[in-house]
Amino acid sequence: MWFFRVPQVVFGEDALSFLSTLGIKRACIVCDRYLAAAGMPQRVMRFLDGAEVAVVSDFGEEPSLGDVERNLTQVREFGPDWFLGLGGGSSMDMAKILFALYERPDISAYDITPLVPLGLRKRARLALIPTTSGTGSECSWAAVLSDEGHRKNELASPEIMADYAILDPSLVLGLPKGVTRNTAVDAITHSVEAYASAWRNPYSDAMAEKAFELIVNSILRVLKDPSDVTARGNVHIGASMAGSAFSNSQIGLAHALGHALGSHFRVPHGMSVGLYLPSVVRFNSQAVPERYRRLNSLVPDGIRKGTLDLSLQALFSEMGQPLSVDEAGIDRSRYLESLEGMVAVASESTGTVGNAKDASTSDIRTLLLSVLPEK
Ligand SMILES: [Fe+2]
Repeated sequence: MWFFRVPQVVFGEDALSFLSTLGIKRACIVCDRYLAAAGMPQRVMRFLDGAEVAVVSDFGEEPSLGDVERNLTQVREFGPDWFLGLGGGSSMDMAKILFALYERPDISAYDITPLVPLGLRKRARLALIPTTSGTGSECSWAAVLSDEGHRKNELASPEIMADYAILDPSLVLGLPKGVTRNTAVDAITHSVEAYASAWRNPYSDAMAEKAFELIVNSILRVLKDPSDVTARGNVHIGASMAGSAFSNSQIGLAHALGHALGSHFRVPHGMSVGLYLPSVVRFNSQAVPERYRRLNSLVPDGIRKGTLDLSLQALFSEMGQPLSVDEAGIDRSRYLESLEGMVAVASESTGTVGNAKDASTSDIRTLLLSVLPEK
């Protein structure tokens, strides 16, 4: 028996106005300090007429347990009836964790697991509003918590999935080009990995395939003309669908390797996973040949090559996504020094477990070296 989970999705240029229909009395807007300083919460407050609002923003990228505990004090003092997670993956994941710990003051963040019912939604509900098009966190039941060494710990429970995912393309129109590119590469990687996942299913297949088609056929238009609302909307809902795809199957080796890189070097998440995706597709190609042929047929003419790995390289190159350690600005000798540490992190990742093809330690080492071409 399978259970497929998605939040109720609200999509469109005026999607934010849906907030005014929820009868919110005390809204806790969770968004990182950069977005708060940029005035992003005010975009949402316009639709919270008559509600008391607290902005919880004392955290940055890759929040840690310390960040959670510090912000939880403010949340508990305020006593919200709604959590509105506003931002990229870090802000939305923080909202999920704060929501769970507000509802359950007797547990710690690491008690959030799929195996134990939490009994949430006695005091509040959760809406997630992405301001990037990539992480898919608004549609997933996972939340990432970093430890001090930048290792990512994945918390998961079906109960921390949002009640509503509110996708308003007007929130991403002003995204800088670099963030647009990194987050889109992340979403493309989610769709490709979900489609080939060992735990794939008809539901995740449909989400992954359409997400891939929407994003690869619109992202170059977005990068050329960031104000193209139709293309932005395609990438925005595509990224959410890719989130639903991997949340209902699993990510794969490109994420395992990207997380390993991220544990040793400060590289944006999307850039990290995209660095390895073409090599991982090559590695998996004998395991899922028909699936990759199908995805490759969806790549637009002019970019498409004979195989999916080459098409992805061509697309990424056109987007400006690095394809090697050198292009990513990582020092070669430091990369080699960190190699065994990265092999260890990748080997323990859930992405390795759910990958289309089993990968040995030696395979993982070879894949990590595949982005370090001989000089
Ligand atoms: Fe990702």
